[in-house]
Amino acid sequence: MSIFNVNPVTVDDYRRLAERRLPRFLFDYLDGGANAEASLAANVNDFDNYRLVQRVLRNVDGIDTSTTIAGFDAAMPVTLAPVGMAGMYRRRGETQGARAADAVGVPYTVSTLGICPVEEIIAATGKPIWFQLYMLRDRDVVQSLLARAQAAGCTTLVFTVDLPVAGMRLRDYRNGMIGTNLASKLSKAAQLATSPCWAYDVGIKGKPHTIGNLDKVVPDPDDLNAVKAFIDSQFDPRCTWEDIAWLRSIWSGKIIIKGLMEVDDAKAAVDVGADGIVVSNHGARQLDSVASSISKLPAIAKAVGKQTEILVDGGIRSGIDVVKAVALGANGVMIGRPWVYANAARGEQGVTDLLTTFQKEIATAMALMGVTSIDQITSDLIEA
Ligand code: FNR
Repeated sequence: MSIFNVNPVTVDDYRRLAERRLPRFLFDYLDGGANAEASLAANVNDFDNYRLVQRVLRNVDGIDTSTTIAGFDAAMPVTLAPVGMAGMYRRRGETQGARAADAVGVPYTVSTLGICPVEEIIAATGKPIWFQLYMLRDRDVVQSLLARAQAAGCTTLVFTVDLPVAGMRLRDYRNGMIGTNLASKLSKAAQLATSPCWAYDVGIKGKPHTIGNLDKVVPDPDDLNAVKAFIDSQFDPRCTWEDIAWLRSIWSGKIIIKGLMEVDDAKAAVDVGADGIVVSNHGARQLDSVASSISKLPAIAKAVGKQTEILVDGGIRSGIDVVKAVALGANGVMIGRPWVYANAARGEQGVTDLLTTFQKEIATAMALMGVTSIDQITSDLIEA
């Protein structure tokens, strides 16, 4: 039976629906990775290097998947990763993601770059969210962004450090996401109605979106090419560990450093007082041929797991993967593409449904591994 006639359940089900629904260049931007996409495959496939341990006759009545992640009381050890321009895949995509996260009870992180303003996203649920920051060359812009995020009610800063420059995502070159007029490409896609559902849903009528959080700093936020040129010129390759002290001085909430792959860098993050780290290769969109993030987790957890909270992302495609990450030392995971595929395919409900499936998968695996709480998922329940 075709995927289009059944209810989507897995991440891959949503991915295939998203592929049908989105214009090619947008799907590729979401789906793709850097260069030959070797690390993109490794991120997913390396979860197969680990096996869970089945235990029996242990009274597993009353499974509790809840946990605390960076002070957030979460229904399960899962958070929605920041995904730039999530509102391009579904109307008000960032707000929909935050609403779904809230419905299920997990943290939502909004990207520096997005369609929906942070105030709108928070107003949709009345609950705090996390704010992701890229260091920009203009520190006044950074300061005003953070002041705005904090005033809106963001509690935790996710500072992404693995993007001093944008990675070489070759699909974007092939499909014209890079190198053509983005605004005209968007409106042409809408006019040609190659993807009528998408064009209707994101509200393109020849006029591109406003970039929600940068409207005070981009001369014409409705000119996508100007925005893109501005953003590309703004990523700050001069950023160092010393900048984190400055961030600490202007951000009063927790700071999580995202994009660490090496033990030494994780230790440096602890030294600068990070409340948490995300073991991440940016969903394999930056350095291709770097190791998978899950393969780097155990050593990092061993080195700094007692000193800071550890999240991991990249390639997590099921509740089983979440359980593996926790058994290997993570306090929780981030999922990036999965929630956006679900949002593109089935809107807010898709994200809620996908998260609910993840939670059921986690609970079922726990029962079959003989544990009833997240803190019981320890390294003796996983084999390499
Ligand atoms: C991202 N990611 C990302 N990370 C970040 O810190 N800020 C951002 O704006 C973005 N934007 C972004 C856009 C798209 C389309 C993707 C797919 C990813 C990376 C993201 O937060 C996360 O690290 C990865 O997506 C995790 O890998 P999976 O779950 O997609 O395999």
